[in-house]
Amino acid sequence: MIKYLGSKRTLVPVLGAMAAAVDAGTAVDLFTGTTRVAQEFKRLGMTVTASDIATYSEVLSDCYIATDATAVPSAPAKIPIRTGREDVPDTMSPAPAPTPVPKAAATVGTAT
Ligand SMILES: C[S@@+](CC[C@H](N)C(=O)[O-])C[C@H]1O[C@@H](n2cnc3c(N)ncnc32)[C@H](O)[C@@H]1O
Repeated sequence: MIKYLGSKRTLVPVLGAMAAAVDAGTAVDLFTGTTRVAQEFKRLGMTVTASDIATYSEVLSDCYIATDATAVPSAPAKIPIRTGREDVPDTMSPAPAPTPVPKAAATVGTAT
């Protein structure tokens, strides 16, 4: 969770309650940042527009605001992963135990 100056993190329930109290049907969340405010409005069933200059915010708003779960087909249970190494088996077996390395022969000599 991103915390920064100006965050509405603790105000989200209050803003949601205010919107619900006036039975708002639409909302615009300017400077949406994390989109947490927009997400609350969307959760309440409002039509939401979120705007921000930051790229990270665009990613979050594409995911949480612009996309409707009902419009996204459910993912298959298992997505095959193509590695480009078809010689590698799908299931990995445990790595073999390491071969013990013989201890180095004791150095023979005399310290001066
Ligand atoms: C305090 S944060 C937003 C907080 C957000 N409401 C929350 O609770 O997470 C301010 C946001 O304003 C955005 N911002 C700053 N200058 C902007 C500009 N000129 N146009 C659009 N967004 C801007 C920043 O990218 C940042 O995400």
